[in-house]
This record gives sequence, structure tokens and C-alpha cells, in this order.
Amino acid sequence: MNPPPMRQPQFVQLYREDRAVVHAELAAGLLAPQAGLAPKYLYDPLGSRLFDAITELPEYYPTRTEAALLAAHGAAIAAQLPQGATLVDLGAGNCEKAAGLFDLLKPARYVAVDISVEFLRTALQCLQRRFPALDMLGVGLDFSSELTLPPEVGAGPRLLFYPGSSIGNFTPQQALGFLRQVRAVTQGGGLLIGVDLVKPLDILEPAYDDALGVTAAFNKNLLLHVNSLLGSDFRVQDWQHLAFFNTEQSRIEMHLQALRDLVVRWPGAERRFKAGERIHTENSYKYQAANFEALLREAGFSQTRVWTDALGWFAVFWAQA
Ligand code: AVI
Repeated sequence: MNPPPMRQPQFVQLYREDRAVVHAELAAGLLAPQAGLAPKYLYDPLGSRLFDAITELPEYYPTRTEAALLAAHGAAIAAQLPQGATLVDLGAGNCEKAAGLFDLLKPARYVAVDISVEFLRTALQCLQRRFPALDMLGVGLDFSSELTLPPEVGAGPRLLFYPGSSIGNFTPQQALGFLRQVRAVTQGGGLLIGVDLVKPLDILEPAYDDALGVTAAFNKNLLLHVNSLLGSDFRVQDWQHLAFFNTEQSRIEMHLQALRDLVVRWPGAERRFKAGERIHTENSYKYQAANFEALLREAGFSQTRVWTDALGWFAVFWAQA
């Protein structure tokens, strides 16, 4: 008798890149008095690989601190969560973080969300071989602008998973709006989220300015990505990576600073930069645990639980819708 055919992951692509919109957004950012580029442009294929390398750096504590928290408190976390829910992984990438939770959470369905299903295809196909009984769906969606899940995600409570302190790349006001949208799609489930916390400068700043220069390469690669999208003529060697903690705003800021007076040209426009002028490329907000809990409440979540490491560097929250 033939074995039953193996399940195959399903895919839905909702995000369509609109070249004109991307062009207009990049040009507006470069022409603003304080030039800025949205951090989502850090993640072209090379940028995504550089980010993966960052997560392995000795200075970049968030990834391994969060992983240790999930490992140490996995059973206690699982006890809070609805069993048999649909696990929705926001910004799933290689899907490995969520896969590490399958045995504990026993989801009925796994939904991996990322901007492009092409990023998810190989990862989900490999995962399907490891978890042949689990129903899997890949969704291509830019949830940073709007979180609406397609009907293919199905009925029943949803457990949204947003690890890695990616919430820190939104302003607190944007984070509040995003958390409200998350709550609206949980269908009675909740949110499991990783949040980076305020800590001494000598830990925070090297995490964004490592000795090997991987974060510098990640930041400068943005210029190559912008060149390919906008047709601009940025030269990586004209720019220096800067990362520092802005205490007042409680955020790490990443910038690219011009090393000399220069002109950047692209079809239809140009921007002059004086030596020392900067392009702001990313914010990474760091929270006090109590402040983030207040944000979850303000977003409408009814109950919260938090787990932190012994040093108080990172927090994992469960927020019940
Ligand atoms: C994806 N995000 C949570 C990272 C962070 O720590 O803000 C991006 C990053 N930027 C520089 N290093 C890592």
C-alpha cells in the first residue's frame, strides 16, 4: 500500500511591491532636511543574511537572551497559552524560533508571515518534512503598515508570536497602533512577544556597533539596496556607520554619516551632503518592563504575564486578548 501523500504548505502572497511608491518614499526620505531611510530597506537578501550574522555576534545579546528565556520558562509560558490554537509567526524569516515552540505549544496550524512568501517557501517546505502532521500556511504581507490576515488563516483562537524585539523598531506610538491591530486579529487568543529592555550603555551600544563590523556592513548595505531600488549612486566607502543610545528617547539610533562633502544623484533629483551630515536609518527602542506592560493594557489586552532573565536585559510577555 502507498503511504498517504505528505501535506504541503500553502502560500498566499498579499504584498505587491509598487515601484512608484517605493521610489517616492525613498526620494522623500533623502530630500528631507534630516535625511532618513525606513529600516525595512535594510532587509534585501544580503541585508537579511547580515542580520542573521548579527544575531550570532557576542555583543548582540537580544537573540540568545530571548532564546534562553523561552527555553527556561517554556512550560510556564505554554501553560498560559491556548493549546491547539493557530500559531501566527510575524516576521517569520527562517521559521526556526517558532519551530522551537511546536512541541510545547502543540499548535493546530502554523502560519508564517513575512513580506515575501519566497523568503518562506524553502523554510516551510523543510519544516513540513520535520512536522508532517502540522498544517502550514505562508503569507506574504507587509504587516508593518497594516495587519489584516487573509481568510486562509482560518477560524479559532490565534496565538500571535512576535519575537526578537522587532516591536522596538516602531516608535512607541506606532507600537501602540500595531498592538491594537494584533489584538483585533487574535480571535480570543493572545500575543507572545519579546521586548528588549533598558540596560547600561556599555552593553547596549556595542550590540549595535560590534568589533567585527557586521552591523556597520548591515547599515551600509542599505545604500546598495537603495541604489538598486532608486537608481542612486551612493558609494559605500563615503559613509560611516554610527550607533548610539539616545537616553531621552530611550532608543538606539543608527545613522550613516557622510565622510566628506558629496552629492548623491538619482533619476530626476540629487541631494548634497556636507561632511558629517547624517542619514537616520533605524531606531531600536528599549523599554522598562512596566512601561511595555502599560502599552499592552492600553492596546486593550486584558491580562499580561512577563518573564525576564536574571540580569533584566530582555522580557517575554504573554498578553491575553
Ligand atoms: C530586527 N531588530 C529587532 C533589530 C534590532 O535590534 O533593532 C535590528 C538590528 N539593527 C541593528 N542590529 C540589529
